[in-house]
Amino acid sequence: MTKPTTVLITGGAGFIGSHTCVELLGHGYEVVVVDDYSNSSPRALDEVQKLAGRPLTAYQADLRDRGALDAVFAAHPIDAVIHFAAKKAVGESMRIPLDYFDINIGGTTSLLRTMRAHGVHKLVFSSSCTVYGSSDATLLGEDEPTAPTSPYARSKWVCEQLLADTCDRYSEFSAVSLRYFNPVGAHPSGRIGEDPRGVPNNVMPYMTQVAVGRLERLSVFGSDYPTPDGTAIRDYIHVVDVADGHRLAAERLDDAPGLRVFNLGTGVGASVLELVEAFSQACGKTLPYELTDRRPGDAIRAVADASKVAREWGWQPKYDLAAMCRDAWRFQTLNPAGYDRAAGPTNDSARTAQEV
Ligand SMILES: NC(=O)c1ccc[n+]([C@@H]2O[C@H](COP(=O)([O-])OP(=O)(O)OC[C@H]3O[C@@H](n4cnc5c(N)ncnc54)[C@H](O)[C@@H]3O)[C@@H](O)[C@H]2O)c1
Repeated sequence: MTKPTTVLITGGAGFIGSHTCVELLGHGYEVVVVDDYSNSSPRALDEVQKLAGRPLTAYQADLRDRGALDAVFAAHPIDAVIHFAAKKAVGESMRIPLDYFDINIGGTTSLLRTMRAHGVHKLVFSSSCTVYGSSDATLLGEDEPTAPTSPYARSKWVCEQLLADTCDRYSEFSAVSLRYFNPVGAHPSGRIGEDPRGVPNNVMPYMTQVAVGRLERLSVFGSDYPTPDGTAIRDYIHVVDVADGHRLAAERLDDAPGLRVFNLGTGVGASVLELVEAFSQACGKTLPYELTDRRPGDAIRAVADASKVAREWGWQPKYDLAAMCRDAWRFQTLNPAGYDRAAGPTNDSARTAQEV
C-alpha cells in the first residue's frame, strides 16, 4: 500500500466530493479540486477547509476543457485522481441522454487523456449500483451481470469499460471503480451535506426539505412490491463512510494492476417506509408522504453484498440508518436554505423557476 501525497478530486465541491476532501485533508493529503459548480457551491469548499483546518486548492473548470485541465496538472505534482464529477439523476438522463454521455463519458475521456499526458496513472472512479439494473437478487455481488437500464447507468457502465481498456493498453495504469449504493447523511458537524441545485432528485434531501416545509410531501413510488411493507428496499450508506472508502481506495491503488471493482454499501436493506420512520424519529415530526405508482425500471430491492471490500481491505461502514438521518437533519437545521440561498421557506415552483 502506497500513500499518494497530492490527490486531484474532480467534483470535489459536490455532496460526496466535499466529504472526501475533508477525509483526505484530515489524513494529511494535499488536495486539489476541479469543479464547474454546475451542481454545487464553492461555499462548500470554504466549509471543508474550516472543518479540516487546512487549505486546499480549487479550480473552477469543466472537465471537458482539456486546456484548463492541462494547466491544473501542470501546476501540481498529482499522484492520484478521485473522479466524482458527473451528472447523476436517472430520470433526467432519460430526458437529456446526450448531455449525460457528453459530460460523464466525455469528461472521463478528457481526464484520462490529461492524466496520460502528465504521467499520472492512478484513478478511483465513482460508479453506481445502477449498473446492476433491476436485478432482484437478494444481495448484489460484484460478479452480478451488469444490465444498466438508463442513460445515466449506461454512462457509468461505459466509463468502467473505458477504464478497463485503458488499463489493458497501458500497464502502468491502475484503477478502482467503487459502485456505491445509496449515499445519504452529512458530516456529523452539520457543516457540509447534500445541497443540490433545484428540487432534489434523491430521497434524503427531499425528505429534509419536506420536514422544513419547503416541499409538501414525499412521494413513495410503489407500495405493492413483494416486500414486508410493500415498498422498495435499498442499501443506504453514510456519506462519511463513502468518503472513508475513497481514501482507502486511493491508498490501495498500487496493490494490483488493472481495473478492480468494489461495492460500497452496508449489506443491510431498509424499505422506503423504514427510512421515513427513521427520519421522522430523527427530526421529531411525522413526515408527510403519499403512496404512488411504481416507477418504471425501479428494482424491488438493491442491497450490496459488501463482503469483498471487507475481505480484501478489511473495510466496514461505521454508521447506521439512525446516524444517517440524524446527520442529514443536522445539516438541514444548521443550513436551512442550503449553502448559498437566503434563509426562509420558499415555495416549490419559485425554486424550480429560479434554479432549473
Ligand atoms: N449520490 C448518489 O446517490 C450516488 C450514487 C452512486 C454514484 N454516485 C456518483 O458519485 C459521484 C458524485 O455524486 P454526488 O452525489 O456527490 O453528486 P454532486 O452532483 O453533488 O457532485 C458532482 C460534482 O461534480 C461537478 N460537476 C458536474 N459536471 C462537471 C463537469 N463537467 N466538470 C467539472 N465538474 C463537474 C458538480 O458541480 C458537482 O460539484 C457522481 O459521479 C455520481 O454519479 C452518486
